[in-house]
Amino acid sequence: MTEIVFKKEIQWKKKHLLSIEDLSAKELSYILELAKAFKEISTRPVKKVPALRGKTIAFLFFEPSTRTRISFELAAKRLSADTVSFSVSTSSVQKGENLKDTARNIEAMNVDIIVLRHSASGAAEYLSGVVSAGVVNAGDGMHAHPTQALLDVFTILEYKKKIAGLKVAIVGDINHSRVARSNIQALKKLGAQVTLCAPPTMISPYFKELGVEISCDIKEALKNSDVVNVLRIQKERIDENIMPSIAEYREYFGINREKLVNFAKPGLLILHPGPVNRGVELSPDVLDKGLIEKNIYSVVLNQVTNGLAIRMAILYLIAGALGQRGKK
Ligand code: CP
Repeated sequence: MTEIVFKKEIQWKKKHLLSIEDLSAKELSYILELAKAFKEISTRPVKKVPALRGKTIAFLFFEPSTRTRISFELAAKRLSADTVSFSVSTSSVQKGENLKDTARNIEAMNVDIIVLRHSASGAAEYLSGVVSAGVVNAGDGMHAHPTQALLDVFTILEYKKKIAGLKVAIVGDINHSRVARSNIQALKKLGAQVTLCAPPTMISPYFKELGVEISCDIKEALKNSDVVNVLRIQKERIDENIMPSIAEYREYFGINREKLVNFAKPGLLILHPGPVNRGVELSPDVLDKGLIEKNIYSVVLNQVTNGLAIRMAILYLIAGALGQRGKK
């Protein structure tokens, strides 16, 4: 097992990752640079470095997750940390224990970092105020999903070799999306132009204040964009009358071969944070392949691969910051 050596451009002092809002453009770039080095580790025959040996990381997931949970766990293991996972359905939450008491009891076992997913917006920030461990936000309600935004930007950078000046459309249920909010912040800080595209019932005019364009025309968005990040349509919310039906959403906003052939800019890059409703927001052929004849690629699985590297970088930086400051 070999250690990795980084050019230390900045001294990382933040012991929590709660939101992209808290990071400067320089810090974002540093994380992306670091993630490149961590990505290489996962291609080695022995996919492990001793960077976090002796550290303990707990995963508190109060909401379902496949990608975020597994990649965080794998990231910790590849850095040689000890890990402990918490499942709401088999925990004392079922007996009424609240988030604070649950986290403080887990922390009492000398846990260094807590990775939290929770349905309440602000849960990660709240937790950072009641524990002395480092806290990483793995998605809190509609508020933020910082590591998703980082892995999205990392993936765009890999394919497009730049972020500044790119035109990026985020398509789907913007109002309810923590992924959209975190992506907007990361992309804007790094100099991209962002357009939000959805039916008017899925975008509040408030988003304009974030310095983005708003469009309700998917054809225009496809014509003008270098990258499109497609969000999951939360079928459960269709009942809230934000769209008459899934079929209607698919008709007007679903991205399929026909729309790509007729409207998309050649070279368009297609992202989706997952999980995908196959055949709703993306047709199966577009999801799996893109449209090769126009050099249009779907990089959904590449995003998942990159999520592991980003999460290794984040855990590494936070563990380093805790080492300097002590936990308190
Ligand atoms: N993108 C994302 O957060 O996926 P999971 O809910 O599966 O973690």
